[in-house]
Amino acid sequence: MTRKKDFLTLADYGREELEGMLDLAAKLKESWRQGRPERRLADKILACVFLKPSLRTRVSFEAAMWHLGGHALYITDAEIGLGKRESVYDVGQVLGRMVHGIMIRTFSQESVVELAQATPIPVINGLTDLVHPCQVFCDMLTIRENGLPLDGIKVAYLGDGNNLVHSWLNAAASFPFDFSFGGPAGYHPQPEVVERARSRARGRITITEDPQEAIRGAAVVYTDTWTSMGQEAETEKRIKVFPAFQVNRQLLALADPKAIVMHCLPAHRGQEITDEVMDGPQSVVFDQAGNRLHGQKAILAHCLGAS
Ligand code: CP
Ligand code: NVA
Repeated sequence: MTRKKDFLTLADYGREELEGMLDLAAKLKESWRQGRPERRLADKILACVFLKPSLRTRVSFEAAMWHLGGHALYITDAEIGLGKRESVYDVGQVLGRMVHGIMIRTFSQESVVELAQATPIPVINGLTDLVHPCQVFCDMLTIRENGLPLDGIKVAYLGDGNNLVHSWLNAAASFPFDFSFGGPAGYHPQPEVVERARSRARGRITITEDPQEAIRGAAVVYTDTWTSMGQEAETEKRIKVFPAFQVNRQLLALADPKAIVMHCLPAHRGQEITDEVMDGPQSVVFDQAGNRLHGQKAILAHCLGAS
């Protein structure tokens, strides 16, 4: 019997497997563009469990399941009470008898790993405090579509060393691009994640408190909120710490002149990114959001056994 396929972190995936999935995503996107049906997940059901809010992740997973011939269930913690009303193990056992896969967005990575171990069906991580692997996988599709090879380019990330940064570091461990993080002291990515990437990466991994060094010559400029979900009480403090890392016209001028600007959204316009940049000619942020639909179809097909 083959082991089931989860998608919990990009650290579990190698370059070859991810490239195969990116090729599939491009193929499924082309079918969608041409109106050709791709009913690879006919009659399959995905339970989408959300303990945090979502626009993109929710809609893209639900639409992806519909397009692939299956169905998605939207479940919040009001129904489940994960770990309180019912243990993670029991939830995994029950869902494993009713649906074909689980997508979960929650706080701790450990509870997602625990759920994956508790259930015989694939589990897909729709964001934890630690990582956001679906987002970065789909972002690699967007980067490819913009004619950038992942080999040899510099990806710069400015802002908070959060879940997005950790997933970028995990991607940099597999793909040979340079990854450069610029953020204030006290808000850097976790040292273990940086060390893991450094020990595997063929590209250069830079962690700096100098925004200009971080962005100089970058082909991809990426940012995200300074205050992630669950950190709302720190908002006022964080707004004072991060302004030097705002992606604005002046800073962007130091990147490659053809650089693309990415943001996973939701954006806090005027904080981590200016309107001028977000709505400017280098921004791909809305196409990037749209690619959540196409990239995640490949993740679903890969994990639910229909690739
Ligand atoms: N980027 C992203 O995951 O968006 P949502 O939080 O709206 O799902
Ligand atoms: N870092 C953000 C990403 C939102 C998609 C958060 O965790 O809230």
